[in-house]
Formats: sequence, C-alpha cells, structure tokens
Amino acid sequence: MSQPPLKLPDSGPMTDTLPDGRLSAPSAERNAAAIFERLIGYVPTGGMVLELASGTGQHIAAFAPSASDVTWQPSDLSAERMGSVEAWRAYVNAPNLQSPVQFDASGAWPQFPDLGLVYVVNLFHLITNEDASAVIRGAAAALNAGGHFFIYGPFRNEGKFRSDGDAAFHASLTAQNVAIGYKDLEWMQAELMQCGLSLAAVHEMPANNLAVVARKGG
Ligand SMILES: C[S@@+](CC[C@H](N)C(=O)[O-])C[C@H]1O[C@@H](n2cnc3c(N)ncnc32)[C@H](O)[C@@H]1O
Repeated sequence: MSQPPLKLPDSGPMTDTLPDGRLSAPSAERNAAAIFERLIGYVPTGGMVLELASGTGQHIAAFAPSASDVTWQPSDLSAERMGSVEAWRAYVNAPNLQSPVQFDASGAWPQFPDLGLVYVVNLFHLITNEDASAVIRGAAAALNAGGHFFIYGPFRNEGKFRSDGDAAFHASLTAQNVAIGYKDLEWMQAELMQCGLSLAAVHEMPANNLAVVARKGG
C-alpha cells in the first residue's frame, strides 16, 4: 500500500501504548459497549465470528469473553497491527479468541470455517467504493447461509450528511484521497443485494453512526 496513512480525527495519537504492547484508541474505547450491545443480537450460537480491520484489537478482546461459545477471529490488513491484537489477546486470556490473521478484506480471503457473523467497525469510509464492494463480496462468499454481516460506521443518506461534523470529516478524507469517504446507505443496500445479502436492519448508533446489518440468503 503506497498511500500515506490517513489523518483521522482521533486515531492520530494511538498513544496509549501499554508496556505489554497493547495499543488503545480513544474512539474504540468510547464505542465498544454500544457496538457490543447491538452485535450480540447477531452472534451465532456456535462456530466462528470474524472481525475485519481489527485495528488495535481492543474491540474483539472486549467482546470475545462475553460470548464464549463461539470462536472470535481478529484480522487486519496491517502487519503492524498484529502485535497489538496479539497483546490484547494475551491480556484477556480468553480461550475462544484466536490469533489475528493478516489479510486484505478487499482481496482474496483465507478460508474461515463455519462463519456465522462477520463484522467491521470504521472501515468503509476509509476505502474506495470499489474496495468496499470487494469487502462485501468477500463477506457474502465467506458467510454461512443465514449468517450476518454487521457494518458499523458513519454513512450518508442519498448524499446527505447526518451532521455538520460528518460533512467536515468526509471533506477531510476526500482531501487526502478523492476516491474514499462516506458511502450512501442506498448504495450499500444495492451492493449488499447484488452479493446475495439482504438488509436485515439499520441501527442508529451514538455520534450519528449506523450499524448496517445484512443477512445472507434473505
Ligand atoms: C480506523 S481503523 C479501525 C480499527 C478498529 N476497527 C476500530 O474501530 O478501532 C481502520 C483499520 O482498517 C484497517 N484496514 C484498512 N484497509 C483494510 C483492508 N482493505 N482490509 C483489512 N483491513 C484494512 C487498517 O489497517 C486499520 O487497522
């Protein structure tokens, strides 16, 4: 990836670097409880849950111990992130939390057995439409029939931003790369449908974010 790292509002100082190698991002700290409250409704009764773009790893480390009858699999594109994800894994010491897998969610996916839920937090606005479509295709192909894809982040409705802050954030992203930025909910729905996923729910989340949930197989 030859692009320089994006400047994001509060991912700048991923500063809380703990002595054991865990990174702690303020945004992940803030939104974890609200995300889990919604996500838990889609966690299958067995099999595997895959997190894309795990980042620091603190979300999945917070979630896995509370749903111990499923295997939680972290992943990220970045080799640099693997150390922090692994450090969070050691810290929570949950037997159902796997070591992270490094892969590009917009590229070829490794095989994941018995995948009932794929979730991703704060990725779609940071990638191009083309890459977002590829991520949706990857999730749709990898999920079990009846499985869910849970996508949390900031979105637009028919080109309209949900707040002035969202419009400013989108502008700051497109100033860095004109091909990235907020996705329209209507565009998301069409892309999901094209891949055999149907929109199951759109949950309002704190700070104007949404959790868009799609189901494989209607
Ligand atoms: C803003 S961070 C979000 C991290 C975490 N989900 C959170 O909410 O704290 C975006 C993450 O997406 C990862 N990422 C970017 N493009 C990706 C891709 N194509 N496939 C997988 N991960 C990707 C980055 O390495 C980074 O860790």
